[in-house]
Amino acid sequence: MAQLKLNLVQSARLKVLIGDCAEVLTTLENEIIQCCVTSPPYWGLRDYDHPDQIGAEPSPELYVKSLVTVFRKVREKLRSDGTLWLNVGDGYARNGGTGKCGPNAMVGNTKKLIQKRNCKVPDVWGLKDRDLMGLPWRVAFALQEDGWILRSKITWIKKTAMPESVKNRPTNATEEIFLFAKSPSYYYNSKAVRQETGANLRNYWILGADPNSHGHPAAFPGELARRCILLGSREGDVVLDPFGGSGTTGIVANDLNRHAILIELNPEYANYAIEHSLHV
Ligand SMILES: C[S@@+](CC[C@H](N)C(=O)[O-])C[C@H]1O[C@@H](n2cnc3c(N)ncnc32)[C@H](O)[C@@H]1O
Repeated sequence: MAQLKLNLVQSARLKVLIGDCAEVLTTLENEIIQCCVTSPPYWGLRDYDHPDQIGAEPSPELYVKSLVTVFRKVREKLRSDGTLWLNVGDGYARNGGTGKCGPNAMVGNTKKLIQKRNCKVPDVWGLKDRDLMGLPWRVAFALQEDGWILRSKITWIKKTAMPESVKNRPTNATEEIFLFAKSPSYYYNSKAVRQETGANLRNYWILGADPNSHGHPAAFPGELARRCILLGSREGDVVLDPFGGSGTTGIVANDLNRHAILIELNPEYANYAIEHSLHV
């Protein structure tokens, strides 16, 4: 049975450290992680109700800086041939209005930071009302500048897109997943996931949401984690998710005979991840 011990919950192969990943990462040994598969909160979207949460920065520029700081620490923890698989979402700069305006028009029933901000266009990057902010690429370029080698941009095509009420642009149905390497000679098992024809995997993945989203408003599909983990690690390796949420990365990693370390601010999500990992 899972037990909450101070700031750590764990099962045999899954360790969930509860706290701010920027701090918790410094407590891990260097160069023990083979691959990091993660999706940080998107800027200005959901409110995870915690003073240390990422995504609630007053400007998207500070959000990019926060992520650079976190992933610099992740890089220290990666083995020299390690990789980072990063899913980041975009958003719109909007002026005035209510919660129905950007960064993303519809966010379901979760609390919206955008309502609190009252949708003011951030005074940065020359953004204008209704501008798509291009956050995934801004984060990617910032990480590149900080020392990461950007190796691929994978487009996640969503089988079931979030409905949007917009009539003046196409509905968003894709997100980016970036593959970064710590060094030019990194581990990537191209045989682990192939096209149906047997050809090398393409950089667009058509994936549906999991039927059970693990009790988390922003869980990514298990198949997304599965592909990244298979391509980026071997059995017995350690996989990290510093924004663990409901534990998709950890649960899938364990299922694939990898160890996993998750970091998560919210103890409820952390406990959910452990409970869930014990029952799959
Ligand atoms: C997009 S969700 C991740 C969902 C996860 N991939 C899954 O499938 O369940 C981002 C998570 O990061 C957590 N979070 C936000 N700021 C954090 C921080 N500074 N340190 C650790 N976790 C944080 C939030 O509580 C949220 O659960």
